[in-house]
Amino acid sequence: MAVYRGVVLIYLFIWLSAVCGNSNDLVLERSQIFKTLNGSSIDLSVHLDLGLLEHVVAGGGGGGNGNDNALTTPAPSLESIIRAEISGDWERSRFVLQLVNQTRTIQLKQAIYRALWQELRQSKQIYNPVKILEFYEQLEQQSQVPKGLLEEVYGIFLERGAELLSTPFYTNSQTANFPLVNALLLRLSFNTLDMLRDILAILYEIVLALNPPLSVANRLSNYSANILQLSFANLQLLDRPELQQDPPARLSVQRNLRELLEQPEFERNVETSVRQELYEQLPLDERTLYTAQKICLRNVTDDNAYIYECPQTYLICSNPQDAKKAAFYVQRGHNANGTLQFAFYSSYWRNRYIFREPTTTTSDYNSTTGISKNVYSRNAVYWWQVRHLEEGVALYDAGTSSAVLCGGNPLHRDGEEHHVYTRRAADFNLYRRECVWRVENCTEAT
Ligand SMILES: *[C@@H]1O[C@H](CO)[C@@H](O)[C@H](O)[C@H]1NC(C)=O
Ligand SMILES: *[C@@H]1O[C@H](CO)[C@@H](O)[C@H](O)[C@H]1NC(C)=O
Ligand SMILES: *[C@@H]1O[C@H](CO)[C@@H](O)[C@H](O)[C@H]1NC(C)=O
Ligand SMILES: *[C@@H]1O[C@H](CO)[C@@H](O)[C@H](O)[C@H]1NC(C)=O
Ligand SMILES: *[C@@H]1O[C@H](CO)[C@@H](O)[C@H](O)[C@H]1NC(C)=O
Ligand SMILES: *[C@@H]1O[C@H](CO)[C@@H](O)[C@H](O)[C@H]1NC(C)=O
Ligand SMILES: *[C@@H]1O[C@H](CO)[C@@H](O)[C@H](O)[C@H]1NC(C)=O
Repeated sequence: MAVYRGVVLIYLFIWLSAVCGNSNDLVLERSQIFKTLNGSSIDLSVHLDLGLLEHVVAGGGGGGNGNDNALTTPAPSLESIIRAEISGDWERSRFVLQLVNQTRTIQLKQAIYRALWQELRQSKQIYNPVKILEFYEQLEQQSQVPKGLLEEVYGIFLERGAELLSTPFYTNSQTANFPLVNALLLRLSFNTLDMLRDILAILYEIVLALNPPLSVANRLSNYSANILQLSFANLQLLDRPELQQDPPARLSVQRNLRELLEQPEFERNVETSVRQELYEQLPLDERTLYTAQKICLRNVTDDNAYIYECPQTYLICSNPQDAKKAAFYVQRGHNANGTLQFAFYSSYWRNRYIFREPTTTTSDYNSTTGISKNVYSRNAVYWWQVRHLEEGVALYDAGTSSAVLCGGNPLHRDGEEHHVYTRRAADFNLYRRECVWRVENCTEAT
């Protein structure tokens, strides 16, 4: 049937183009069609196929006024011809669009685009933003589509897209599945982020009118988009006026962003501009850790105590400022559980890492002080897990998260050397002052 209808339309279009030439008036074109048809100077094949068209139009039921003689009734509307062609199966619109390419007059082309859009608006597919998007992109491929029509289709697409994407915000269930939401997000992943931004702008208007910003931010932490889309969506949410005066909601978004950037695929899958924008939203220490080429680790209260290899031994000290010696390159990785981890090595100290000798028994910690002096400058990678705190960062061993890097205890001084050591992670709160560090940008140190 589709082929049969297609043949009808091909002939119609070729013929329309030939007959109507460059006429500016489509109504005139239509009446001319039937005037000519009523005459005798028509090519036989066209005549035959237009005969078929009459049946289609009459059978399709649209546009006609019930008179079974199409030739004497007013011209069937283009809408009814297209409805007959599509006949309830919107996928056939592709075929019509292919044929439009063969028509010569702009007016006819544009009338067909509009008629197709009317047809889509009347079909159930209008509730599926993916279908509207497909149509929009097909129109974009066509020539001479009226700008107003493209804008209208895009506008409706955005509205329907935002409505659909807002549905997960209306449930507390973290396990509910939204296949259409997933399909739209997947489809959007093939487009530029501009489109996602336009939808989100409407989406946030809707969901922030109906939900407190904090719950929107929390819901976004478990939204089924890809990592780039989620990064983008969180950043856009952070920009909303509703979030400016809402510190808990901002913190929640920041938590979302941190979760995203700690994922193994973050750097690979999130484009540079979005990554940069995301880093901008982080506290200074954290941003420095991600973006500076080299960093220094400094005592929070003593701006003259920096971590570096001790002058006399291979232990690590917190010594007076010497940027050259204290500058470490940052290496990032993920452990077997996918947890983000960092290693720090110094080009000054022949690429040796800040290394912790693993503790094997609890007696590795001094029973009175709770300290283990087991931090060295070593020729082997050692991974630390960085936890971000209000005043700076804490460095835990990435393997077990059971030890934390500390310094400043007067018992662990040897002349000019102020040794760095570890404590049990469980003791962190008791010795917080000894175990929080600042991250400084030491990129310029050579
Ligand atoms: C068809 O032709 C007849 C005779 O020439 C004429 O009377 C009639 O008005 C025409 N109809 C249309 C729709 O042009
Ligand atoms: C329209 O026709 C031209 C020339 O035949 C072709 O290059 C182009 O791809 C066609 N466009 C569409 C949307 O079919
Ligand atoms: C997010 O949703 C998934 C199911 O879609 C669930 O398994 C997971 O626990 C949720 N995570 C959070 C943080 O709520
Ligand atoms: C670190 O310092 C370098 C050199 O001054 C500068 O180019 C870079 O932007 C800084 N990075 C951060 C995160 O401050
Ligand atoms: C524990 O530390 C104290 C104080 O530095 C020291 O006197 C003691 O010998 C240490 N104990 C062990 C078992 O190393
Ligand atoms: C990885 O996860 C397992 C199971 O949750 C846990 O037992 C193990 O300690 C984790 N390992 C690391 C290095 O975090
Ligand atoms: C920082 O310096 C203070 C004062 O010397 C000291 O009490 C604290 O333990 C030091 N903290 C670190 C992390 O070295």
